[in-house]
Amino acid sequence: MPAYFVTSTGTDIGKTFVTAGLIRTLRATRRPVAAFKPVVSGYDSSVAATSDPAVLLRALGRRVTAEAIAAIAPWRFRAPLAPDLAAAREARAIDFDALVAFSREMIAIAGTTVFIEGVGGIMVPLDDERTVLDWMTALGIPLLLVVGGYLGTISHTLTALDVLRRRGLRVVAIVVSESERNPVELHETVASIARFSGETAVIGVPRLPPGIDTHPAFDRIAALL
Ligand SMILES: Nc1ncnc2c1ncn2[C@@H]1O[C@H](COP(=O)(O)OP(=O)(O)OP(=O)(O)O)[C@@H](O)[C@H]1O
Ligand SMILES: [Mg+2]
Repeated sequence: MPAYFVTSTGTDIGKTFVTAGLIRTLRATRRPVAAFKPVVSGYDSSVAATSDPAVLLRALGRRVTAEAIAAIAPWRFRAPLAPDLAAAREARAIDFDALVAFSREMIAIAGTTVFIEGVGGIMVPLDDERTVLDWMTALGIPLLLVVGGYLGTISHTLTALDVLRRRGLRVVAIVVSESERNPVELHETVASIARFSGETAVIGVPRLPPGIDTHPAFDRIAALL
């Protein structure tokens, strides 16, 4: 069964939003799906209900319990910082090999389409030596690259794409999740990125109003999976 790593040009761009939308779309067409967010920062029990793992669990139609969150997000840190720094604040460290082993095991046992949401952008440090890029490289699974529509996103996106390709990683789709402020129409950003992205599809997801979490763009992305 296919597994996809959902990564991004930065934090707060739309990885969780897009992953949740894709989960709902797959479930609506009866395609079984699982999702994990192995590393979370800015987490404590008071924000559990709005945390990334909770958003993913709700999209999966599962109950949000402490146990369910712990099972899909084992590395949780309180400080809203890059994971290496957030871990250090608690005198902890992320065991990179254990993180890779957990990710592989979850993919192996799921027997369904699996999404693994990364953390922050593609080169956020996980420890003193490794970044998310090393995690993705170790897994070697195809990627969904979620980017924004803000001023500057085109350069950020193409820089990320170049780095990912140099590591031999395949980007299935670049998803432009429209930011709160956008200098141009979403379709213009999509077209600009597509002129430089070669065979990688570029799909725009408009800024959806609060409470709306379905959109035909998710069907178009799902058709590529
Ligand atoms: N297309 C969109 N329409 C409406 N809201 C969006 C859209 N994309 C992102 N958002 C909102 O923007 C915020 C940040 O998105 P999200 O949490 O998915 O980012 P992220 O990349 O997963 O961040 P993190 O690095 O913390 O995991 C969320 O409140 C999300 O609901
Ligand atoms: Mg997220």
